[in-house]
Amino acid sequence: MEIRHFLSVSDLGGEEIKQVIKQALVMKRGDTPRLLAGKALALLFEKPSLRTKVSFDIAVQQLGGHPVYLSPAEVGVGKRESASDVARVLCRYVDGIVARTFSHRTLLALAEYSSVPVINALSDLEHPCQALADFLTIYEKKGRLSGLTLAFVGDGNNVANSLLLAASLTGVNFHIASPPGYEIKKEILGQGREFAASSGSEICLTGEPGEAVKDVDVVYTDVWTSMGQEAEAEKRRLAFSGYQVNEKLLSLAKEGALFMHPLPAHHGEEVSPGLLDNPQSVVFDQAENRLHLQKALLAKMLASSNRE
Ligand code: NVA
Repeated sequence: MEIRHFLSVSDLGGEEIKQVIKQALVMKRGDTPRLLAGKALALLFEKPSLRTKVSFDIAVQQLGGHPVYLSPAEVGVGKRESASDVARVLCRYVDGIVARTFSHRTLLALAEYSSVPVINALSDLEHPCQALADFLTIYEKKGRLSGLTLAFVGDGNNVANSLLLAASLTGVNFHIASPPGYEIKKEILGQGREFAASSGSEICLTGEPGEAVKDVDVVYTDVWTSMGQEAEAEKRRLAFSGYQVNEKLLSLAKEGALFMHPLPAHHGEEVSPGLLDNPQSVVFDQAENRLHLQKALLAKMLASSNRE
């Protein structure tokens, strides 16, 4: 049987994303079968984590499985030991590998050599579990996905990439406002445009935050400096100075539009102080939904797979 990895949002189709979201809602209501009983998962992290680490650890336990956390200092993928060797060793013990890596190439190497599913817990290219949990949150709050419009303001980064793919696969329109030099990657845009042609969603790129958020259903932002880019922080603060999401910008969206952020937030940079407490903010629902969504995702990716 061919191993199915989840490295990109686009490893699932639009219908599969909707099924996982519906399954997550069932699990959120308290119905979590112990589908991972007798199974173990490695949680291999090269970068710090709060939400992803805790929500995956608890998700595995609630499904009856056993999580084994490997911290950034422990393994040294590509330094102490090559990604291919790490993958070939881990899959002799565990039934799945949840990995957070600096480079997406490390994730691809792990997947290439792993005989168990590898799940992307954030790389420099994508953050697919975050995007799916966000779409669960939008579905819960708005009662639908198709036909809604999400505007992302800021860096065309891993989070933006995964949101664009999730939107274009599920019929959600996607606007993005980024400063010159920080636009979304051409390859992701090309992939998104292909999906959008079948789902009917529209993708709109602009340099103007006000234009991006006008009359949209969801306003989304993320940090200007992602993990691994700390040396560029000052340069980025200057480049993004007109791209803060604040009450004034949010007021240009539809009445009752959601404000979203994957956290951690830098208050006073990409988000104005206090905006997380605005009644339109659903950031802590997003954080909670990581748990429910990842349980449904693990059930889909792992429940039927058997370690060789
Ligand atoms: N773009 C951010 C997301 C953190 C959840 C980063 O990669 O650091």
